[in-house]
Amino acid sequence: MALVAPSLLAANFLRLEDECKMLNESEADWFHLDIMDGVFVPNISFGPMIVEFVRKTTKKPCDVHLMIIEPWKYFEAFKKAGADHLIVHIEACPVLKKNIEQIRSLGMKPAVAISPDTPISDLNDILPFVHHVCFMSVYPGYGGQQFIPKSYDRIKQLRKMIDEKKLETLIEIDGGVTVENSSSVMAAGADVLIAGVTVFKSADPRATITQLKNS
Ligand code: DX5
Ligand code: ZN
Repeated sequence: MALVAPSLLAANFLRLEDECKMLNESEADWFHLDIMDGVFVPNISFGPMIVEFVRKTTKKPCDVHLMIIEPWKYFEAFKKAGADHLIVHIEACPVLKKNIEQIRSLGMKPAVAISPDTPISDLNDILPFVHHVCFMSVYPGYGGQQFIPKSYDRIKQLRKMIDEKKLETLIEIDGGVTVENSSSVMAAGADVLIAGVTVFKSADPRATITQLKNS
């Protein structure tokens, strides 16, 4: 059974409390929150203030995805806001191992995100030290994009690396996950499915979350 982490980027922010309530009443496992700075990615989303409000609505883990340059400057701010998991991009961190240790020592579960054009082998040394890999199956920056087909082979490659090392590191898939492709994504070796548009633009978001869980 998949873990499901709906991405609030696709939520209706005028009704954020209701959207969080819906997730609380659903089978969703984690809340996924996308932080974008308009520099590391072309889009701007929201910062720690929104994470703090969301945190107050739920007991489920908040999985915070930093798509920002120099993310280490904000680790404490996101800890204060209540982030449970903090994800940094491998492409944004020249001293990744140090940043992962900083996140862990602040009491959060560290995770690393990898963009579609970065070789999977670049993750080799960091895998034992992260709680999960946020595998980007679209170019980071926007919700509602199409799943990139070459991701299937890359997910398989990552699964193999993790299994060969006998690690517990989870693989979380971010971008373009739908009820149509979720079974294939799981079959390739995923553990966690992030879904923004698929959940929030669905006629019955809770039923869609259940469907994703059963992928
Ligand atoms: C993209 C974000 C994703 C996004 C996923 O840069 O990291 O988390 O919200 O949205 P969907 O599921 O709509 O592709
Ligand atoms: Zn994300």
